[in-house]
Amino acid sequence: MIDRRSFLTAGAAVSAAGVLAACAKKNPTKSTGSKGGGTEQITLGFSQVGSESGWRAANTQSVKDAAKAAGINLKFSDAQQKQENQISAIRSYIAQKVDVISFSPVVVTGWDTVLKEAKAAGIPVILTDRSVETSDPSLYVTLVGSDFESEGERAAHLLEKVLAGQKGTVKIAQLEGTTGAAPAIERSSGFAKIMKASHPEWKIIASQSGDFTRAGGKQVMAAFLQAHSDIQVLFSHNDDMAIGAIQAIQAAGKAPGKDIKIISCDGVHDGFVAMSKGQINAIVECNPLLGPQLMDTVKTVHAGKGSTLPRWIKTKESDYTADQAAAALPSRKY
Ligand code: AHR
Repeated sequence: MIDRRSFLTAGAAVSAAGVLAACAKKNPTKSTGSKGGGTEQITLGFSQVGSESGWRAANTQSVKDAAKAAGINLKFSDAQQKQENQISAIRSYIAQKVDVISFSPVVVTGWDTVLKEAKAAGIPVILTDRSVETSDPSLYVTLVGSDFESEGERAAHLLEKVLAGQKGTVKIAQLEGTTGAAPAIERSSGFAKIMKASHPEWKIIASQSGDFTRAGGKQVMAAFLQAHSDIQVLFSHNDDMAIGAIQAIQAAGKAPGKDIKIISCDGVHDGFVAMSKGQINAIVECNPLLGPQLMDTVKTVHAGKGSTLPRWIKTKESDYTADQAAAALPSRKY
């Protein structure tokens, strides 16, 4: 597996400049922005992953609100968690000759062909939320999103706090996000990295995808509990799956947060409610409010200044434990 940070920095020198050079060559108006003196509205084609989670709902709203506030003409499509739908949406944006394309890739692989089509049409691409693996880093300008590897590491450190020095083997079940998606791959590997370095006593005894949905989390957790009556910890890659899992744990006659400690990612409103009830023990925040940063990036790229941007515009995030949940809940923005 390609390490995301190494991968993202490897092509930094050539990427943004390459994209912009290609855009300028094919379609000068697109890379210089301000067609006709800076008054023309920018059209952004945005392909969203789907509507699988509370995080995604907040992200979609943030993108729509921020585009409106920035005066950007947004063409929006929901891919329903299917890569083929995202590829069709990107092709449609190319055919419509939008100024900039942005998308949150459902999985990391399989994008080179369509990204080359965008490049050939002179349309710059900005990734948001999730990264891709590509042999040609010049196919996108930058990524606006979180560091999922670090989120996995933070989840492990939160578990250290929750276990508070508990001795002996710790049996962990993991609910993974969508198979092949950057947050699923990287949260798993970040968590595993800390386990390997510091916790030989932690054992992942079950790990499967719940596709980032509540229904998936409930179904997979019920199956885990059938197969393993001795699960002590659940690491869930998002709050929605954790909330589904809480229902399965209760149905099995156990107390979530007590009999089975739960660490989750996202920090959506419902996750905080569950944490304030002591059902989730700790949450690694993953901020979905990427819209304003994305629109600023779109404007910079459209103005032909994409080469001034960092290769990865990282989101700032925090960690929360159950004792902080009630106080933090009223000020949560999503
Ligand atoms: O890519 C971000 C992840 O996607 C969120 O953690 C999850 O809730 C969403 O579906």
